[in-house]
Amino acid sequence: MKEQLKEIKQRGMNEIQKADSLKELEDLRVKYLGKKGEVTRILRGMGKLSKEERPIIGELANVVREEITNALSEAKERQEEIALEIQLKDEIIDITMPGVKKEVGVLHPLNQSVESLEEIFISMGFKVVEGPEIETVENNFDALNAPKNHPSRDLSDTFYITEDLVLRTQTSPVQIRVMKNAQPPIRVISPGRCFRNDTPDATHSPMFHQLEGLVIDENITLGDLKGTLDVFAKRFFGDDTKTKFRPHHFPFTEPSAEMDISCFKCGGIGCNICKGSGWIELLGAGMVHPNVLEYCGIDSEKYSGFAFGMGIDRITMAKHDIDDIRLFFENDRRFLKQFK
Ligand code: DAH
Repeated sequence: MKEQLKEIKQRGMNEIQKADSLKELEDLRVKYLGKKGEVTRILRGMGKLSKEERPIIGELANVVREEITNALSEAKERQEEIALEIQLKDEIIDITMPGVKKEVGVLHPLNQSVESLEEIFISMGFKVVEGPEIETVENNFDALNAPKNHPSRDLSDTFYITEDLVLRTQTSPVQIRVMKNAQPPIRVISPGRCFRNDTPDATHSPMFHQLEGLVIDENITLGDLKGTLDVFAKRFFGDDTKTKFRPHHFPFTEPSAEMDISCFKCGGIGCNICKGSGWIELLGAGMVHPNVLEYCGIDSEKYSGFAFGMGIDRITMAKHDIDDIRLFFENDRRFLKQFK
């Protein structure tokens, strides 16, 4: 029996040494120390031994059991350490690695312009109103004093939906809607989309944006027009901006003018932006024609007013030195990203 115990110990120790998983170690524990295990069997069989042999074998069996138990727990500890090492290696986090950047979008440059235009005019007491993009021929042309044979009415210039309905070619019809529905004092601006039957190129788009302005009250003069637009130009393009008014013609204003601003890049010396002239053409304006006032039911003897209309695309191009209007509508992120 002594020999048998020695052999069991030898074999057990060997097997424990070779085991390389917790599962194998558990199997070995059952094999040697379990209820039906080899060492247990020997301890159980001790009854059959002589009185003299019993304590010797008993002691030896206990020693073997203890040694196997210790070897198992040591091996188990080793295996657990290895498992932990593997797990730590697998889950390693390199905190020096660059993170995943979340890019934040930007407001479209045209919307940025609309926001700052609204802020500027609201601070001067204007209200923001909107009109429909599908407009009556009456509001878009007739009420604005456009002669029946005005070239802008042509099919080649205007998108007609029916004989009486068009995609508005300007935001000026919003003036008509406001004046038909309210008595002075009136002070409104109206930004929005307009449409003309133009072939797209660097400076033309069949869909573009305008901002219309209208002020009607007693004693409104050309001086009010010039002062208001001068404040706007300085606020939008910078304090050093100078304005200049040139005579022009629009059917719905009399007198009419175009306003230029001094070039904000060269300050008036002449550069690529102002094409050497030192000035940039910015918007149309004028004193509201009495015919327009009367058409809308406003007494032109008592009231006067001014109106202006600017291309939002155009002033945004001027402000940011953009040379092609189509860039606004292509949604190329490389272009849009510049307006952060
Ligand atoms: N509607 C004009 C255009 O599209 C711009 C304009 C000029 C608007 C003079 C006005 C104005 O209100 O007074 O060219």
